[in-house]
Amino acid sequence: MVDGGVYMSLRVQNKLAVVTGGGRGVGRAIAERLVAEGAKVIITDINAAAGKSTATAIGATFFRQDVSLQADWLALRQHLEKLDQGLDILINNAAILRSADPLTETLAGWQALMRVNAESVFLGVNTLLAMMAASGGGSIVNMSSSSALMGMPQFTAYAAAKAAVRSLTMSTAVYCKQAGNGVRCNSVHPDGINTDMVREIAGVMQPLAREAAMRSVPFLCEPQAVANVLLFLASDDSLHVNGAAICVDNTATIHPPYI
Ligand SMILES: NC(=O)c1ccc[n+]([C@@H]2O[C@H](COP(=O)([O-])OP(=O)(O)OC[C@H]3O[C@@H](n4cnc5c(N)ncnc54)[C@H](O)[C@@H]3O)[C@@H](O)[C@H]2O)c1
Repeated sequence: MVDGGVYMSLRVQNKLAVVTGGGRGVGRAIAERLVAEGAKVIITDINAAAGKSTATAIGATFFRQDVSLQADWLALRQHLEKLDQGLDILINNAAILRSADPLTETLAGWQALMRVNAESVFLGVNTLLAMMAASGGGSIVNMSSSSALMGMPQFTAYAAAKAAVRSLTMSTAVYCKQAGNGVRCNSVHPDGINTDMVREIAGVMQPLAREAAMRSVPFLCEPQAVANVLLFLASDDSLHVNGAAICVDNTATIHPPYI
């Protein structure tokens, strides 16, 4: 739309978006970007204090949710049904990070991480896809990681969960295409991002693993760089991009810069 010679089009104008784990980090950055581009954004987070203050700061609303619990996804769907605006964009972003190799990882640790990082994305798709299809289609963006595409022994469970997210993304995309329901589903694969997740894990890693991880620090990108790519995938600019694995890693998955 051109108004007085100025190009006015916002990229996600009037779309309704849910961003999980939007209280801080990349989730906050994408939520902020979506609001700036005209979307109505609902941030969810397990951390109510962070979620509320971020929502207030950026002009979004907050819904408390533990993404690993089906009951919380069903409650979110009820909330969306009450709003009665369908759902256009789902950003499955919330996750946790653990450092353990194949021998030091425990079954309990593996299962906890799978629940938060992989089952959550299944629950998001499973609970909200029909609503997105019914409102004419939309875009699901799943936050995966470069670790889904490489061997990463110091993050064994995390990498496996992110690989599950990649696989679920492909199955969802093909399902949607075959159903002709207008929903797209893509995964994003960043390498290191400059967020609290990285800073916090550095403090609890074993010395050797920490040393290896610290070599990646000079190559971290800012959350906004990832948010820009998420915005593209969320918007109709990427209308023919479906099932893709988009690396935001400055070559890290084809040649780790710290080796
Ligand atoms: N930081 C990196 O280097 C990096 C690299 C690749 C991919 N990623 C992915 O990007 C996404 C965002 O990472 P980040 O660095 O911003 O992390 P972060 O830890 O800074 O933020 C994660 C947010 O998710 C929330 N969260 C955690 N568990 C939750 C749960 N069970 N239910 C709801 N919310 C929950 C946290 O409270 C927090 O607000 C994650 O999927 C992460 O795996 C991060």
